[in-house]
Amino acid sequence: MTSTAPDRVRVHTAPADAQWWRSAVIYQVYPRSFADSDGDGIGDLPGITAHLDHLVELGVDALWLSPFYRSPQVDAGYDVADYRDVDPLFGTLADADALLERAHRLGLRVIVDLVPNHTSDEHAWFRAARAAAPGSPERAHYLFRDGRGEHGELPPNNWESVFGGRAWTRVTEADGTPGQWYLHLFDAGQPDLNWENAEVRAEFEDVLRFWLDRGVDGFRVDVAHGMVKAEGLPDWSGHVAMIEGDEQGTVPGGTNPMFDQEGVHEIFRAWRRVLDEYPGERVMVAEAWVDPLPRLARYVRPDELHQAFNFDVLVTGWDAARLRRVIDSSFAANDAVGAPTTWVLSNHDVVRHASRLGLPDPTSRPNGIGPDDVQPDAELGLRRARAATLLVLALPGSAYLYQGEELGLPDHTSLDPSVRTDPAFFRTGGTELGRDGCRVPLPWRADAPAYGFSPTGATWLPQPDEWARLAVDVQRDQAGSTLELYRAALRLRRDHALGSGDLSWAPEVSTDPTVLAFVDRDVLVVANLGEGSVQLPDDGHVLLSSAPLAAGAERTVPAATTVWVELR
Ligand code: GLC
Repeated sequence: MTSTAPDRVRVHTAPADAQWWRSAVIYQVYPRSFADSDGDGIGDLPGITAHLDHLVELGVDALWLSPFYRSPQVDAGYDVADYRDVDPLFGTLADADALLERAHRLGLRVIVDLVPNHTSDEHAWFRAARAAAPGSPERAHYLFRDGRGEHGELPPNNWESVFGGRAWTRVTEADGTPGQWYLHLFDAGQPDLNWENAEVRAEFEDVLRFWLDRGVDGFRVDVAHGMVKAEGLPDWSGHVAMIEGDEQGTVPGGTNPMFDQEGVHEIFRAWRRVLDEYPGERVMVAEAWVDPLPRLARYVRPDELHQAFNFDVLVTGWDAARLRRVIDSSFAANDAVGAPTTWVLSNHDVVRHASRLGLPDPTSRPNGIGPDDVQPDAELGLRRARAATLLVLALPGSAYLYQGEELGLPDHTSLDPSVRTDPAFFRTGGTELGRDGCRVPLPWRADAPAYGFSPTGATWLPQPDEWARLAVDVQRDQAGSTLELYRAALRLRRDHALGSGDLSWAPEVSTDPTVLAFVDRDVLVVANLGEGSVQLPDDGHVLLSSAPLAAGAERTVPAATTVWVELR
C-alpha cells in the first residue's frame, strides 16, 4: 500500500521587487521609555542614540520613533504642539539630527511618527482658532460646530471619543459666552484637524518635507483611517475602541462616519508624490484599525502608502486555525495590490504579547491589566510569545517589533492607579486601565539604578522588581534567553531571506488544526499551538526552536513551541 503525501498549498509568491521595506524588520522605539540620558526619569533622544548598538546587535533593519515633538504630553506626545521641533523633554533638533546621523552610519533606517488627525490644543493653530470668531479661517483648520439644543448646549452629534466620554468640547468665546464645540476623537487636548481645508493639506506636505530634508527614511502615519470624516458628521451610536479592533463590528469599513472614509486616499496619493520626489526609497506605514483586510489593503495600493500595520494577527490570540486564516487572507489582500504584509504582535497601545498570551483567554484583549484583574500566567505567556514571534518572523513580509519584546518583557500588571497617565484611564473613570502597563522603561543593566534606564534611578513609571532578571546585560550571550532567540531568529531570517520568500502550507508535516506548518524558501516552520506534540520529518537540520527540545527527542516539537528546520 502506498500513501501519497498531501500537496503543499502555495499562498504567497516572492515579489519581483526587492525594496528594503518589503521585508524589513522595524523596531519601535518609544522614546520616553527607551533610555534616559539626563536622569529626569523620561527617556530622550541622546539616550536612544547612545543605545543604537543594541539594535544593531539585535539585527533589525530600521527603527520607528514614536513622537518626540513639542507637546504638552497629554497623550504621551501624540498631541503635537509643533511638528517641526523636538520637545525639551526629549532633547533638541540637533539631537534628532545626531540620532539620524548615527543610525545611518550604523546602517539603520529611521522612520518617524506623523500625527495628522489632530494637533495638541496648544498648537499655534488651535490657540488662534479659539481666539478667533466662529466662521473664521482660523476655526476652519479644525472641526468647530455650533451645538444642538436651544442655546447650543448639546454637542453637535453623538460621537464618543476613542478614549471614552464625548468627542466634543465646548469653548468659551472671546466675549465670555459659552460658544462653539470642537471635535476630538481622542482627548480634549487633541482637537481633530479639518482635512477638507487646503491649508491643512499644504501644511502637512510641508511637515513631510521638513523631516525628509533632514534625512528620515519615512513616516508612521497615526490614525491614518480617521483624518476624513463622513460629510455632515452624522450621528453614529456604535462604540469606538481602537484596541478592540473591529471584529465585533466596531470599526466596520465605511459605515462608521469617523473612520475609513474614501477621502483619505487622495491625501495619501498626494503624500506619495512628495515621498517619490526624494531618493532612497522613503516609506509610509499606516496605523489604520480597518477591517476586513481587503479594506486595509486599499491604503497600500501602488500610489498610496507602502505598508499598513496588519493588526489581525495581534488580535487573533492563540488559535492556529484562525491564525492560518489570517495569514491566508493577509497574503490574498496584500498580494492583490502588490504590497507586503506586515506582522505585528505588540506595540505601545496594547498589552504586550508575553502577557496577553498568558491570560486565561488568550484571545482577550483588555485595555490594560491591573492588580485586581486575573493575572497572566507569566511562564505560559512568555513561552507562547516566543513561539508566536518565531512564527511571524518566519513569514514573508515586513515585521514590527516593539521595544522590550526582545527581552520577553511582560506588561506591568500591578501599577498603582496613582501613577497611571493614559488619558483613556481618566476619561473612562478608570474602567479602562489604559496603556501604561506596556510602556514601562526598559531594563538595561540588572545591577544599576532603574536597571540602567536612567543614571539617577528615576523612572516615569515604576519598573517591576522581577525585571532585574530580564535586563539586557543578563540576557546577552545567555543561551536560551529571549534576547538570544530574537538575535538568532533575525540572523537566520536574513541568511535565508525569509522576509522576501514564498509561503506554502506543508500538510505533509501535520494536518492537525492546532499546528501551523509551512515552508518559506528552504526553511520548514512548525508552530505547535496545541497541547500535544508534533513529529518533525526525519531529514532537515533544526535551526532554531522557541523552547528547548527534549534530549533524545530532538525531532519532537512540544506544545507551545515553534521550530525552524533547514530543508536539504
Ligand atoms: C494612535 C497611537 C496612540 C494614540 C492615538 C491618538 O493610535 O498609536 O498611542 O493615543 O493614536 O493619537
